Amino acid sequence: MSFVGIVTHGGAGSPKEWQDGCINSADIGMQRLLENRSAYDAVLESVALLENDGRFNAGCGSSYRLDGKTIEMDAAIMSSDGRLGAVACITGVKNPVLVASEVAHSPHHILTGQGAVLFARKRGFGEYYPDIQWAKERHAKLMETFSKKKGDLTREWGVHDFEENWNFETASSEIFPMDTVGAVAKDKKGIFAAAVSTGGSGAMLKGRVGDTPLIGSGFFAGPYGAVACTGIGEEIMKKLLAKIVYDWLAQGTAPEVACEKGVHLFSKTVPIGVIAVSSEGAGFFSNTGMAAAVLERRD
Ligand code: GLY
Repeated sequence: MSFVGIVTHGGAGSPKEWQDGCINSADIGMQRLLENRSAYDAVLESVALLENDGRFNAGCGSSYRLDGKTIEMDAAIMSSDGRLGAVACITGVKNPVLVASEVAHSPHHILTGQGAVLFARKRGFGEYYPDIQWAKERHAKLMETFSKKKGDLTREWGVHDFEENWNFETASSEIFPMDTVGAVAKDKKGIFAAAVSTGGSGAMLKGRVGDTPLIGSGFFAGPYGAVACTGIGEEIMKKLLAKIVYDWLAQGTAPEVACEKGVHLFSKTVPIGVIAVSSEGAGFFSNTGMAAAVLERRD
């Protein structure tokens, strides 16, 4: 029996009401898988669609850095047949995941900042600067909140610390954006792929890079499956979350169980989500709200 499957998500913290965006994204990916296209093509198109949606924190919906003006995005794509590309802190493009895919077909695997931007222009990506009202409102709220408690910004931070010590009237969930979008898939040839894209998470300095473009942290694909993560990058990268979950898939753990085990490595105060696919099936788990969609076909 051959199995093809795809999972998409809208980020840790994305509301269930936005699930239609994940379903549309999974639908287009499944369509490609059923047309005999590769898992790589499927996750690429699925994530580009999530970037175009505008509601999710990626591509057209990316969050601002702390200055309220700067948008820097990270994205990556990887397949079990050896393709790997990522961009970090890229600006002025509509679809970072498409640029990451171009990097996968260049001499390198990761390009950052201005180098990534110039590479994108060379490959024909035009200038694009999102103008997202909700991102502006969220940033204004963040600044208003911090202006009441300036000391917090001078500490070593991470949303983990903020969440544990939160003492404002405004709920932290109203201030920090939902996270990375992602997709994982298995195609008819048994190849796996993962793609991820984000505008970052939490309160961010210029030049900050999260887990999303880091292999083994935000994503991983190999002969036993594919994994994509969402949540606070500073926490995810310390645990190499995607590779840990992948290793459990390789040992035969069912995808939804592997995802749940992965999420349980973190304190409940750290919002985390994981999606995964193996030869057995596809699944996801999150310790916070997360819009997601799973599609499977067996013949
Ligand atoms: N998980 C996305 C980030 O921390 O940037």
